[in-house]
Amino acid sequence: MPEPSTHQAADQTSSRLHLSQPPLAAGLPLVGLIPQLFADPLRTLTEAWRQHGDAVRLRIGPSECYLFTHPDHVQEILVDKAQIYTKESSLWQAAQALVGKGIGTTDGEFWRKNRRAMQPQFHRSRLDDLSTIVANSIRELLDALHAEVAQGRRSILLFKEMRRMVSQVFLRAMFGSAISPRELDDLLVALKDSFERVDKLLWTSFLPPWLPVPGQRRFRDAVQVIDSIVYRIIRERLAQPAENDDLLNLLLKSFPIQSGDQNALTQVRDEIATMIVGTQDGPSLMLGWSLTLLCQHPDLQQIARAEVGAQLHGRAVTYESASALVYTRAVLEEALRLYVPLWLTVRLAVTDDVMCGIRVPRGSFVFLCPYLTHRHSQFWPNPEDFDPSRFLGKDAAPSHRGAYLPFGLGPHLCIGKHIGLLFGQMFLGEFMQRFRFRLESHAPIELKAMVSLQPKQDVTLHLEAM
Ligand code: HEM
Repeated sequence: MPEPSTHQAADQTSSRLHLSQPPLAAGLPLVGLIPQLFADPLRTLTEAWRQHGDAVRLRIGPSECYLFTHPDHVQEILVDKAQIYTKESSLWQAAQALVGKGIGTTDGEFWRKNRRAMQPQFHRSRLDDLSTIVANSIRELLDALHAEVAQGRRSILLFKEMRRMVSQVFLRAMFGSAISPRELDDLLVALKDSFERVDKLLWTSFLPPWLPVPGQRRFRDAVQVIDSIVYRIIRERLAQPAENDDLLNLLLKSFPIQSGDQNALTQVRDEIATMIVGTQDGPSLMLGWSLTLLCQHPDLQQIARAEVGAQLHGRAVTYESASALVYTRAVLEEALRLYVPLWLTVRLAVTDDVMCGIRVPRGSFVFLCPYLTHRHSQFWPNPEDFDPSRFLGKDAAPSHRGAYLPFGLGPHLCIGKHIGLLFGQMFLGEFMQRFRFRLESHAPIELKAMVSLQPKQDVTLHLEAM
């Protein structure tokens, strides 16, 4: 990717006068960049960055939004001034139709109270039970796939299969055996329907609210399916508590429900829905892209395989042995840099602000694009190269706190970061122990940027049982 004129806007502002506006990407009259953003949002933002530099204003319909790409901007918005740049906007409220007021879509005092209640339960020292459940599910699923491959199955559609497996692992991690296979299937369909709708809402939330967005009915049905399953399981679990700390137990410890306490019940429902959504795209895309990159770099795959052989010796993966897969972890981290699942983050400025010398008026939408920040050549030498060794050793990346944000940054940092990476180490370890694999095609993989960053076409992975 050609270099943008880095820090162009900030240089202009700091050297000439202190407070000015960054350049404007205006698009078409009236609609601004809406048609381009609908057609290809990643390309639109990449072109704006290339053309205008690290700070640029985007006209989107009647609104003027900001795109900030420099790690200094990222750190200021997500960490230092998180109380100014918040999620209190129509965009996040639209997502609440699916996940309610869970910690992923709220902010301010309400968010702080709930995040505080949950945080201790997700500390790595508490994740023993959860990691055992996750490891067992991974083994079961990969054993089944191994049996199919041994009997003649040749290939999988990589990203679809990863999504199916990840959903199963995390729904089991959430509910243990309380969820039936039928409900699991229903939940997967409902999630797919609701994700399609949330993808549409990303850009339409900038349009006037009276414009209809298709798919409302299917979305409502999907939310009902999710609710009926989730509430049934919570009620049964309250009547018959479980010994193991699956995700539901961790949430019930965070929000103890006294009989008849509707608020606590609703909060647990909302946090479950948030977790279900949070555990779909991130982990499955992380695996899909990691396996793709390992196929495209057979020499690096050899290093990862050697590590898996040396640490696991053909045995089942555990919390300890997975944690020892440091090169595998670096593969995951580098895949998350190049193909960051949540490629776009949106905040709303709730007061006037001056940000790195740039005036940001109250009510402005601010976009951060980790996909672009992860390619900033000042912080990532040869940014397009897949090089897991960046994340190894005492000078391990990133060189700037704001340069790497696959799990977000600041107070909203992903609460599942540790279990997410551990899951990735466990999965890749078990996968490499069972299969040799290669991509069917060497053609470059085109990207489709919805809420998350996905391949445009199916990617076929050939498997050979070991
Ligand atoms: C490895 C894959 C994962 C990736 C790439 C990922 C990415 C992210 C990102 C970027 C955010 C911050 C969003 C923002 O700033 O608006 C986030 C938040 C969150 N994630 Fe993850 N996540 C992953 C795995 C998980 C897992 C396994 C869980 C649950 C066990 C989880 C639960 C959450 C929750 C509840 C939040 C909201 C936190 C808050 O706003 O306070 N995530 N995740």
